[in-house]
Amino acid sequence: MKRAVITAVGHYVPDNVIPNSYFENRIETTDEWIRTRTGIEERRFAPDGMATSDMGVRAIQDCLNSRGIDKDEIDFIIVATVTPDYIFPSTACIIQDKMQMKHPYIWGYDVSAACSGFIFALETARRLVEAGASQKALVVGADKMTTITDPQDRTTCIIFGDGAGAVLLEPSDDENTGIIDSVMHIDGSGLPLLHMKAGGSVMPASLETVEKRLHYIFQDGQPVFRAAVKSMADAACDVMQRNNLTGEDIAWLVPHQANLRIIDATASRMELEKDRVMINIQRYGNTTAGTIPICLSEWHKDGKIKYGDNIILAAFGGGFTYGATYLRWGIRHSA
Ligand code: UT7
Repeated sequence: MKRAVITAVGHYVPDNVIPNSYFENRIETTDEWIRTRTGIEERRFAPDGMATSDMGVRAIQDCLNSRGIDKDEIDFIIVATVTPDYIFPSTACIIQDKMQMKHPYIWGYDVSAACSGFIFALETARRLVEAGASQKALVVGADKMTTITDPQDRTTCIIFGDGAGAVLLEPSDDENTGIIDSVMHIDGSGLPLLHMKAGGSVMPASLETVEKRLHYIFQDGQPVFRAAVKSMADAACDVMQRNNLTGEDIAWLVPHQANLRIIDATASRMELEKDRVMINIQRYGNTTAGTIPICLSEWHKDGKIKYGDNIILAAFGGGFTYGATYLRWGIRHSA
C-alpha cells in the first residue's frame, strides 16, 4: 500500500490585526486577563465580504504555488470548517468553482468536526490516497470565526480569529515519510457544553433566535477546558504508545491552538520540551480548523521542519471531537 504524504503546505491570515486592547473598551476585560488565561495577544479579523471560501482559496494558492502544481491536477478537495459560506452547497464546491479547478474527476465535500476538523479531514483524504482513489488531494482547514462569535460575550469573543491553511496529499512509495498512524474519536455527549443553538433543524432561524443572540457560539469554558486537556493528551499519548515513540523521538507537536494552558498540559503529558511545540496562538488566537495547517505552513516556510521529522498533530473540539495523527515530514526544504 502507498503512503499518503504531505507534499505542499500553505496558509492565509487576514491583514487586519486585532490586539487584546481592542476589547478593553468594548467589553469588561483586560489585556492581562486574556494573555494569562489564554496566551492570546492578538488575532486577525477578515473583512466583510471575505468568505471562508476566499480564505481557503488564498491558502490553496499559497500551497500549490510552493510546489508548482497546477490546480487542474487536483482530483479531491475536502474542507474542514464550521463557518461554511452556506449551509449548502459545500465550501469545497465553491472553492472548486472560484479556482476553476478542471480535473475531469474532481470531487469533494466539507467536514464538520469543529476544532478537530483539519485532522479529521486529513484522515479522510489519507484513506483515499492510500487506496489509490486520489492522486492529488487538497485538505483545507478554514474558518471565519468572527461570523459566529458574539462580540458581546467576553468568554468567547476574545478567543477566536479568522484564518485558513491547506495541505496537498499525494501517494508515495517512500516508506520513510507520510502519515503513519492516527487515532480519532467522537463523543457526542459534549453537545451541551459547546454548540450553536439556532440555525439548524432543531431551532431554525427566526426573528426570535436573532433577537436572543442564538446564532453565536455557546461555550461552557471550564468543563470544555478540562475535557480538552484530557482528550488531546490521551490521543497524543495513545498514538505515541502504538508506535513505540517517546517524547525524545518527537521533533514537533502541532497542537490545536485553543488555549496556551491546554497546549502546555498536552506537551507535558507527552514529556516534550516546549521548544518542540508549535505555538502561534499569541498571534492568531483560535482559528478552529485553521490552527494546525497554519502552524505547519509557517514552520515549514521558516525552515524549521526537517525531512523525516516525526510530527504529532493533536486536536480537540466541539462535538466533542478529538484525535492525534502521527506522520513523518516528507518535504525537503528546497521543495
Ligand atoms: O477550541 C476547542 C474548544 N475550546 C476550548 O478548548 C476552550 C476551553 N476553555 C478555555 O480555554 C477557558 O475555559 C476560557 C479561556 C474560555 C476561560 O478561561 P477560564 O480560566 O476557564 O475562566 P473561567 O471561565 O473559569 O472564568 C474565570 C473568571 C470568571 O469570573 P468569576 O465568576 O470568577 O467572577 C469569568 O466571568 O473570569 C471571568 N471572565 C473574564 N474576565 C475578564 C471570563 N471571561 C473573561 C474575560 N475577561 N474575557
